[in-house]
Formats: sequence, structure tokens, C-alpha cells
Amino acid sequence: MKLLITGATGLIGRELTQKLIYEGFEVNYLTTRKSKINSLKGANGFFWNHNQIDSECFSEVDTIVHLAGSTVSRRWTKTYKDEIYSSRINSTQILLNGLKSVKESHQVKQLVSASAIGIYPSDFDYNFNEEAKINPTSFMERVVFDWEKEVNSFRSEGVKIAKLRIGLVLSKKGGVLGTLKIPTYLGLGAAFGDGTQGQSWIHMDDLLGIFLKAILDKWEGVFNTVAPNPVNQTKLMSALSYSLKKPYFLPPIPSFLIKIVAGEMSNLVLDSHWVSSNKVIDYGYSFKYSDIKKAINDLIG
Ligand SMILES: NC(=O)c1ccc[n+]([C@@H]2O[C@H](COP(=O)([O-])OP(=O)(O)OC[C@H]3O[C@@H](n4cnc5c(N)ncnc54)[C@H](OP(=O)(O)O)[C@@H]3O)[C@@H](O)[C@H]2O)c1
Repeated sequence: MKLLITGATGLIGRELTQKLIYEGFEVNYLTTRKSKINSLKGANGFFWNHNQIDSECFSEVDTIVHLAGSTVSRRWTKTYKDEIYSSRINSTQILLNGLKSVKESHQVKQLVSASAIGIYPSDFDYNFNEEAKINPTSFMERVVFDWEKEVNSFRSEGVKIAKLRIGLVLSKKGGVLGTLKIPTYLGLGAAFGDGTQGQSWIHMDDLLGIFLKAILDKWEGVFNTVAPNPVNQTKLMSALSYSLKKPYFLPPIPSFLIKIVAGEMSNLVLDSHWVSSNKVIDYGYSFKYSDIKKAINDLIG
């Protein structure tokens, strides 16, 4: 079975590519950086950008995994917000147009696309499942909503679509743990806001396991891709301090300070998302990590 992966050079993409090759898949990938075309061992790189795509990338491909999107962890200026939006919505259009251009010869039957729990509104109590009605109000809700809508256009090509609404990814190789590790190691770890906001996290191993299962079992629909036991931010930070054997004593950093420093991007750390993983469990996925302390300990303990 041959796959095409977009965003394969990123945090999730690199690990997923390695896992899929290990599992015996052939992998093509698309990159916007010519310097990265030969950067993933065992996979074949192809170039694309905002207005072109090498249509050879679709050759003999059965399933597309769509991860492309510029990082949200950079200051949200007006220009950069446009980049966050277009790197997801326009890249999806380019991918679809590329597929349409090889209509007679493509064999793509499935698309597994990244999405994000940021599609749900921030709520300190409510536990969201996939049935929740989405009425985007914030910037991030709008980006993810439009991204999912664009992904749905692949139905016109007879492609089955699975959208994985990914939570906070915990990885050895960077992401949120990479950012929080240094202050925590220095004994300066602290929650943001009042620390009660829900953090629906997932260990990288489970994220990769869910992608693999979605591909193999040809999942269709929307799937929250988070561990079974979300925690509040204070618990997340104290689990991190515990794993690093550092004291956790600082009070949370007040919201107004974070808003001054980070602007609208502060939503990333101040918003609350309690999200249910029942559907992926009902679809037969068995989590390796459902306890935050065990997950963080495995990654950095
Ligand atoms: N990590 C998380 O906690 C998390 C949580 C929820 C959802 N997600 C979503 O999952 C996806 C992958 O996440 P990640 O953490 O692996 O992201 P990442 O490390 O930032 O990597 C994303 C990749 O997307 C590609 N990309 C960037 N701008 C692009 C553009 N304008 N057009 C096409 N491709 C572009 C880049 O590949 P090239 O430079 O090779 O083109 C980059 O390596 C993202 O869409 C993200 O929103 C991640």
C-alpha cells in the first residue's frame, strides 16, 4: 500500500512517516522546501507550494495523509494569521486540484486529515464529543472549521474522509513539552491563567497508533484524537515537574500578563478544552497512555 503524506517534515509527520515505513507502507511526501525533498529516509519527496504541485506524487497512491499547516506557535500578527489560514485551506485546495489533474490515473480511495480540537469553543466545564454543533466565533475555531470543510471537498473524487481532531501532542521531540521543559527544569514551571483550563492531551505513540488504525480500517468521519483522561493545566504542569523531579510551587501566571505578552495567541494557553475520546475507543483503538503522569514520565522522566 502506498501513501502520500503532506506536512511530513513536521513534528507529527516525521514520526508518522518513520512508523508507516516500519509497518511496510511505501511513502511519498510533499514538501514546500526543495532542500527537504531527500530528507526523509526511505520515503520519496515531491515539491509543492502555494500554486503548484508535482502530480507524480499521486502515482500508485492509495491513501493521502494530510498534515500540512504552518505552526500556530508564532506571534499572531495579521500577516501570520493569514499564513496559518492559507497554509491549511489553500494547501487542501492545491492537493485536490492536483488529484483532479490526474483524474484518469489516480487510485486514491482515502484521505486521513489532521484537524484540531481548537474547532470547539473554549469551555471550562463542557465535555465535547464529535456530535457538537460547530458555530465558529474565534480565529482558531474559524480556521479549523474552514479547514475541515475544505477537506470534505475530496468527496467529489469519491475519496473516503477521516478527520482527526488532534489535541495537545506530547512528544519527546519538541512541541509543547519541549517549550515547557526548560522553565520547569529551572523550577520556574507555572500554569497560565487560573490553571483550571482543560488540556486534552495525547501521547505521540497513541497519536501514531490512531493514524495507523484510521488508515488500515478506512475510518470515515470526525474523530477526537485525545487521551481518555484530560487534566487541568495545573495537573499537567505538576506532572511535568514531578517527572523532572523539580518542585512545583509557583502560583499561576495571571491571564492579563499573558495577554499583554502574547496578544491573541494567548488563547492557545488560556482556552479550555475538555474533549471526549469515546469514539476512537468505540472504533477499537486501545490507548497505551491514559494517565498524564505515566505519559510524561515515559517521554521525559
Ligand atoms: N502538534 C500538535 O500539538 C497539534 C495539535 C493539533 C493539531 N495539529 C495539526 O497537525 C498538523 C501537523 O502538526 P505538527 O505539529 O507536525 O506541525 P509542524 O511541526 O509545524 O509541521 C507542519 C508541516 O506543514 C508544512 N507546511 C508549513 N507551512 C505550509 C504551507 N504553507 N503549505 C504546505 N505545507 C506547509 C511544513 O512542511 P514543509 O516545510 O516540508 O513544507 C511543516 O513541516 C498541523 O496541521 C497542526 O495544525 C497539531
